[in-house]
Formats: sequence, structure tokens, C-alpha cells
Amino acid sequence: MILLKSAAEIAEMEKASRIVAEILAEVKTFIRPGVETRELDEVAEAGCRKRKVEPAFKGYRGYPASLCIAVNEEVVHGIPGPRKLKAGDIVSLDFGVRYNGFYGDAAVTVPVEEINPQAQLLLKATEESLYAAIDAMRVGARLSDLSHATQTAVERYGFSVIRQFVGHGIGRSLHEDPQIPNFGPPGRGPVLKAGMTFAIEPMTSAGSWQVKILPDGWTAVTQDGSLAAHFEHTVALTDKGVLILSRL
Ligand code: MF3
Ligand code: CO
Repeated sequence: MILLKSAAEIAEMEKASRIVAEILAEVKTFIRPGVETRELDEVAEAGCRKRKVEPAFKGYRGYPASLCIAVNEEVVHGIPGPRKLKAGDIVSLDFGVRYNGFYGDAAVTVPVEEINPQAQLLLKATEESLYAAIDAMRVGARLSDLSHATQTAVERYGFSVIRQFVGHGIGRSLHEDPQIPNFGPPGRGPVLKAGMTFAIEPMTSAGSWQVKILPDGWTAVTQDGSLAAHFEHTVALTDKGVLILSRL
């Protein structure tokens, strides 16, 4: 069941999502060669303490950190640790908080100094595909119109959409209905209504879409070792259009 939110509830979700965006922006300022991914997790933790918000992922199904950090061929759910970033890496930061009973969730993929042209293009294509899905989100559209818009935007560049993970409804729970695949034909699934709140999160690969999970039980990597990227926004559909809640 897709839970519709009132304007007041969307306003609360906007506060949670803004905090996510602020903390992600703080973490980004620490991205440089030599930084350990666990130091970035500490920055996110400190950001939560300062604002008295709860990190959404820590303890979720046993996930051990606040931030998910996925480097290069890692797609999502990488666990922060002693790994040091290097120039030329691409780093996905996925973060969520709970504030006043509501969740916000967002992700960005950022370069460490200079990255190669293919990596640059992958970041561009993935972010564009997120906005293509957001553009497709209007009252009366069908859910899979978003999925189709994402897939089309990514494949236009010759890249692939990861199929094993999906976006999701969000609100008083981190994951609500519906699941939002990033691929598929348009015109299917529920009709979109004002009050729907989604975390839209395209995950892409420069090679093929197959992933495997590392022995840590969390980190998803591309099977062919190709680069992967991830962008995510928490958004709300209203009668006046889409609000991107997790944008500064
Ligand atoms: N953005 C991801 C999601 O919504 C992050 C969840 S990671 C987990 O599914 F650790 F919480 F599982
Ligand atoms: Co999410």
C-alpha cells in the first residue's frame, strides 16, 4: 500500500531530507586522496550528533555504519573502513536520517580529484537519469514511467542500469511501498497521486548490470569489475508538481 502524505508531513520530510543534504555536503568537503572511508563515516556521525538526528542506516538489518560508501566497482552498501581514497576514484556516498519520525535518504557519487573521461560520463549519465525520473513524476503518470525514463537516460550513453536494487517509497519508514525499479517498459504499475513520497535511486555500471555481494554480506560490486555510480533524492509529488526534498 502506498501511503499518501499531507502537506504537513511532507514539510517534516523536507526537514529530514535537508539535513541529509547538509551532512552529505559536509562529508564531500573531506573527500581527498589519503582519507580513510571510516573518517567520512565519522564526519556523518558527528553531523547527526550536532543536529540531534538519528542516522537511518546504522543498525538497519545489522548494517554497521551510518554512511554507505561505494568506491569504483562497488555499487552500493560499501562499509566504511581503513581503505584510503586515491586520486581518480569515484566515491558513492549514500546517507539517511530520521528526524521527528520521518526519514530522508539521498546519495551522490563524487570524483576524487581528476577522473578519467569514462568515469566523468558515468557520473553525468547517472545524475541525468535521476532527473529524468523526477521529470517523469507527475500526477496521473504510472510508476514505471519513472523506471523507463531512468533506463533510457542511462542506456543512451551505452551504460547499464543495475537491476538487483530498486528505489522505494519513504516516510515514517525508510522503505515503504512501492519498489521503484530503474528499468522497464513505461505505462505500468500504480497511477501516481499527490502525496506520494519516493526515494528515487538509479544505480549504474559502465559495463554489465550483474552484481555480486562481497563476503562482508553487504558490499555490492559489479561482477565484471566495471565502474558503478549511484545518485538518489527523496522527492514528494504534490498538486503543484514535484518537490526535491533532499536538495540544499
Ligand atoms: N539508500 C539505501 C536504501 O534506501 C541505503 C540503505 S543501506 C542500509 O536502501 F544499510 F540501510 F541497508
Ligand atoms: Co534509498
